[in-house]
Amino acid sequence: MNVEVALIPAAGRGTRMRPATNAIPKALLTVVDRPGIQWVVEEAARAGVTEVVVVVDPDGGDIIYRHFEESLYLPSVADVKVRTIVQAEAKGLGHAVLTGQEEIGLRPFFVLLADDLIRPSDDILTGLARAAHPDRSAVYVRKVSDRLLGAKGVVETGEWVSPSVMNISGAVEKPGHLAAPSNYAIHGRYLFTPEVFDYLAGLSPGYGGEVQLTDAIAELGAAGRCRAYLAEVDLFDVGNPLGFLQANTVLGLDDPNYRTGYQAIIDEIRG
Ligand code: G1P
Repeated sequence: MNVEVALIPAAGRGTRMRPATNAIPKALLTVVDRPGIQWVVEEAARAGVTEVVVVVDPDGGDIIYRHFEESLYLPSVADVKVRTIVQAEAKGLGHAVLTGQEEIGLRPFFVLLADDLIRPSDDILTGLARAAHPDRSAVYVRKVSDRLLGAKGVVETGEWVSPSVMNISGAVEKPGHLAAPSNYAIHGRYLFTPEVFDYLAGLSPGYGGEVQLTDAIAELGAAGRCRAYLAEVDLFDVGNPLGFLQANTVLGLDDPNYRTGYQAIIDEIRG
């Protein structure tokens, strides 16, 4: 499936990253040498995306837009048109995605959570597009320990289509291990057909009083319209301080521009 547009929800308050996020949107915090959100736009560009819609809150939008406007300094995303739209109220991830309906229109689209970064040499989106082929939605899942089942959306498994792709029959947001339908948890990368908007528009607030994207995935799954794609790719969660440090270290040591100098610094610190 050819996907030309991606939506990045970036309206969250970033409370786990206070005080860094007191005045700066979380998505603009620097990871190695560029804002976190730029890593994600670069990932989308590598998968062939040419248009990115960033959902921002009323305070943070302008500064995110300005970052991408300075495209002279952004050759890695020069072929991507980045736009921002404002989510007026923080009503949840499902609501943030629904905010993008007009810009997305009738096209299939990726949803990319900017908290999760991957190495530039890794790829999830191509596999996701293959899993969704020819016309379904697909979510990226990983097998997790029971402990994490209270922190993620969890899918109800159907039959396997290939060693890394399965149909799903449902999904539950943060069920905890006693109620979880499986150990396959959704992780930050999604591909939706526009039919997801119909389900999102009909949802009542769910877990935590918010409109949950997972609840729309549940309905897509029940209708036989959604698959899960399983792949072991390292994800770096920059939404909390320790994950943020880990991302800077791993991605910094990966980067040919900094690898040697950075390794020398680390060796020196460790004596
Ligand atoms: C969100 C989604 C959850 C998903 C997770 C992916 O949760 O609601 O279904 O599993 O992202 O990392 P959050 O991490 O924003 O609480």
